[in-house]
Amino acid sequence: MLLHNQLLHLPQRTPLLLLSRCKSTTTSNAFKKPNLRPSLPPPPAFAFDMDGVLIRGGKAVPGARRAIERLCGDNPQNREMPFIVLTNSGGESEASKAAKLSKQLGIEIKGDQFIVSHTPMQALAQTALRSKLVHVVGPDAVKDVAKGYGFEKVVTTREIRAWDKRMWPYPVLGGDHDYHRHDPSFNLTTDPISAILIMHDPPDWGLDIQIITDLLLSQNGHISTRRPLHHASLPADHPPFIPLYSSNADFLWSNDYAFPRFGQGGFVAALRGVWAPLMRDQPNGADRELPIAGQFGKPSAATYDFAKRVLARNSSNTKDAIGTVYMVGDNPASDIAGANRHGWTGILVETGVYKQGDVVVGDERPEVVVRDVEKAVEWVMRREGWM
Ligand code: G3P
Ligand code: MG
Repeated sequence: MLLHNQLLHLPQRTPLLLLSRCKSTTTSNAFKKPNLRPSLPPPPAFAFDMDGVLIRGGKAVPGARRAIERLCGDNPQNREMPFIVLTNSGGESEASKAAKLSKQLGIEIKGDQFIVSHTPMQALAQTALRSKLVHVVGPDAVKDVAKGYGFEKVVTTREIRAWDKRMWPYPVLGGDHDYHRHDPSFNLTTDPISAILIMHDPPDWGLDIQIITDLLLSQNGHISTRRPLHHASLPADHPPFIPLYSSNADFLWSNDYAFPRFGQGGFVAALRGVWAPLMRDQPNGADRELPIAGQFGKPSAATYDFAKRVLARNSSNTKDAIGTVYMVGDNPASDIAGANRHGWTGILVETGVYKQGDVVVGDERPEVVVRDVEKAVEWVMRREGWM
């Protein structure tokens, strides 16, 4: 998989410094001046999951603000502990997500402390895909996010459907996209689509499943073409399917409803459910598998390597080494498994997907289970001798 070395060559403009420059959004004063005695052991660092840890359904989890305040120096050592927010959510830019969370918590979180599911997809914009036409899946806002990452030609699902409404002859969520106002940077009659990026949970699963399948079964990404499939085997040397990337494997996630909701992983499972019968007769087993070319998001190595680079860059910037990294999450399969596989310490909270009594096994087992994020920070401070 190409991702790793593409990430290592990320352009220097990727501004993800891990500076916890805390300011309350409700009171004017910043927190107490941090105690920067160089002789002290390096501070522990934190990676906070968002949904089910800091917020639930757009509302702050009780204690979340207090937890961040402690990291900002409001602790017996009067020192700061670096932190990032590492979420599988997405669908808008890091800066706008950070601004929303700052308002919900009443404490300022900077865009450069924020890694969303598709942030590491920037690496793909440093490849030949930069100047090719890419299809983005998710709310329409992901088009601008992808352009912000450097992709020059980006088409959304609704734009594709607007090109020929017969592709999905049903009402479209958010109304028809007016093709005549289409983006002049591409022409679907002539331009092939070179990759599909699932950047966030699509609002209209049916529409996206139809369009993605059409594209995968097309001749080299030309939307209105189709490989000879019916009762026929794809020739062994058939051109590869255009690459399909997913930014988040979460099958479930937690909002303020009593039970977890399907996430992007649920959408991809539904897509697989359609792909399988379509490709059932294909002799080549690989063709029967949904051709996912790259998986981003927790617990993927692409995302944890990205976050580690940020930590490394931070310690080099502030000459302040980083101690143990604690991942505080509500989802054993993504937050904790990712932490365990990448040398971080996983802390599982009970305010989201994971419920007391749920069985967690293997690398989904955390170092400790605590009630909520405030308890998580206290547990770390005790463990690190900060209280
Ligand atoms: O779609 C969001 C969801 O998958 C989980 O987000 O913040 O819990 O990683 P988070
Ligand atoms: Mg979560």
